[in-house]
Amino acid sequence: MNFGVCYYPEHWPEKRWESDALMMVEAGIEIVRIAEFAWAQIEPEAGRYQWSWLDRAINLLGKAGLRVMLGTPTAAPPIWLTRNHPDILRIDAGGQRRDHGTRRHYCPNSSTYHRHSQEIVSAMAQRYGTHPFVFGWQIDNEWGGGHTARCYCYNCVTAFQAWLKDRYGDIANLNDAWGTLFWSQSYMDWSQIHLPDQSIDKPNPSHILDFYRFSSDSYVAYQRLQIDLVRQYAPEHVVTTNFMGLYRDLDQFALATDLDFVTWDSYPTGNLDRWQKHLYLKQDELDASEHQFAYDVGDPYITGMAHALTYGLKGRPFWVMEQQAGAINWGSVNPGIRPGTTRLWTWHALAEGADTTVYFRWRSTLFAQEQYHSGLLQHDGSAGFGLADLALLRGEQQQLADIARQPNEADVALIFDFEDLWALEIQPHRSDYSYLKHLFVYYRACQRLGIQVDIIPKSGELNKYSLVLAPTLHIADEELAHTLKQYVIDGGHLLLGVRSGFKTANNLVTDQPFPGLLRLLIGATVRSWQSLPEQFGWDLSTNIAGLNGPATYWLEVLKPDSASVRALASYSSGPYSGQAALIENSLNNGKIYYHGWYPTDPQARAVIGHLVDKLGFSRIGDLPRGLIARKRGDAIILLNFTDVIQTANITGLPIKVPPRDVTVVNSLVSES
Ligand code: GLA
Ligand code: ZN
Repeated sequence: MNFGVCYYPEHWPEKRWESDALMMVEAGIEIVRIAEFAWAQIEPEAGRYQWSWLDRAINLLGKAGLRVMLGTPTAAPPIWLTRNHPDILRIDAGGQRRDHGTRRHYCPNSSTYHRHSQEIVSAMAQRYGTHPFVFGWQIDNEWGGGHTARCYCYNCVTAFQAWLKDRYGDIANLNDAWGTLFWSQSYMDWSQIHLPDQSIDKPNPSHILDFYRFSSDSYVAYQRLQIDLVRQYAPEHVVTTNFMGLYRDLDQFALATDLDFVTWDSYPTGNLDRWQKHLYLKQDELDASEHQFAYDVGDPYITGMAHALTYGLKGRPFWVMEQQAGAINWGSVNPGIRPGTTRLWTWHALAEGADTTVYFRWRSTLFAQEQYHSGLLQHDGSAGFGLADLALLRGEQQQLADIARQPNEADVALIFDFEDLWALEIQPHRSDYSYLKHLFVYYRACQRLGIQVDIIPKSGELNKYSLVLAPTLHIADEELAHTLKQYVIDGGHLLLGVRSGFKTANNLVTDQPFPGLLRLLIGATVRSWQSLPEQFGWDLSTNIAGLNGPATYWLEVLKPDSASVRALASYSSGPYSGQAALIENSLNNGKIYYHGWYPTDPQARAVIGHLVDKLGFSRIGDLPRGLIARKRGDAIILLNFTDVIQTANITGLPIKVPPRDVTVVNSLVSES
């Protein structure tokens, strides 16, 4: 595991830099990320570059023994650019133009902004592309952060029209694809199409989905424009950017394609605060017998799923580019973190496949927006708890490095698709429904069962996995149906869940019986589907151990069409009593399961536990809430996110893990 830190030399008197650099080295830090918001200091006026301070900072850091990652500073355009070219400013969905004084206020489709971005990126890459102390680049900062994924300005209107023309060729095709017969929406010409108006009634869902796709493509193209220049002038350097974990508005798989490796910014206490409502339902409320997470650690399942998604973007080790190392300033409450928590988070990142952790930030700022945000050093320059944890981690460096080299393998894959996510966000059909919640139920089940799970895209390599979980394949086309069938014929096991196969790529409902193009694969028809208020539910009749009703929230009723189909669970009360709720179909050597209701935590655990036991692959063992276990090679890393001692039964041996602590056991030793 390599350690790094985010540093803002421009925020501190130059005479302080040297002691900062020495303290960083002393703390075991090797990497320093700088300059990602320093455009105004680098180019204070159009075309007048001021390199000397940055040269001195890089040289000083480099001579101290640190390797520098530079940020391209495009997340924060300088005032001359903003004032001379107001056409670069983004406009929010409500028509509000963002202004200078914050960040990310630019439009990703402004040709003026593209030109100026190319100039600053070329200038920086030419100057530092072969610099001995610089080794890599972060492009921009947090694409889409602060709700900026979708811009509603006029640049975007014309770019969207061109994007549509490219996609559909003929306006008649677009009218068909969007179903514009409805409500007199038909278009005669590309120039008549605007961005979906969110202000009155619901816009057309096909129009919205295309706008979301277009917005994502816009950032992919803008990122590529920068990457091409960096690679041209810095051919030996690595290129990455910092994502935001479970962030939904841009297709992270598409953005990852052009990068050498990916990173994300992990703020566990803030992410609990921000994501909880998007990831849990009322029915997921804590069982009285389960442990609370400690107040200062966040939700390890949220953090873990974000790590897993980031790993899955390229199926390769990733970095945490900004690791929380103290209190943050942007949660609705911001607990101070105790000694030990930064170490726990760092171990968690490692266990999930990170090979580098960069802490945010070196020292708390004395001014501007983030005054209340902690750093490794406190405002007065004294060490915070995060720095003390880094000393502990340094003592464990050999063990961390050994584990980082171990394979990160999983038997189970969970399919994640941003277009499915968007289509369901556009038409959730019940206000608390979300794609992420649905995936998260199954993710949590795998964690509690001690099963390693990889997150992969729809186009991922399914054959690597004995079991593929696809909670919702909402949009299905022939190619997907064919790929899934082949996977199963080759011996794979596939679990599909509710709302699969419902839509076409244009976000129209399939004209086939549900689940549309996936119906032959599952060997059954979804005869009815509905969402139920949680106080109602239908009982289940099943032989699967631990699987009890009621089934509620979202229910589908299945009718087997083929003799190869077996019902593993049926509804035993309600209007569809006696009809199938969970089925298994066999195809050659493989099996497909269709899980016809949206499960609670215990139900998801029972179903997945049943499949895994049948498949016979090993799992680490049942884990209590708040105890995370990951296998890397022969090592099993146990992480306790609660304030009580937790016990894991690993291959028959009880292993005690102290509160907010890590225990590593060798799986081979514990077996013997
Ligand atoms: C984000 C940004 C940083 C900083 C931190 C604060 O992750 O990338 O610049 O604002 O949040 O938590
Ligand atoms: Zn725009």
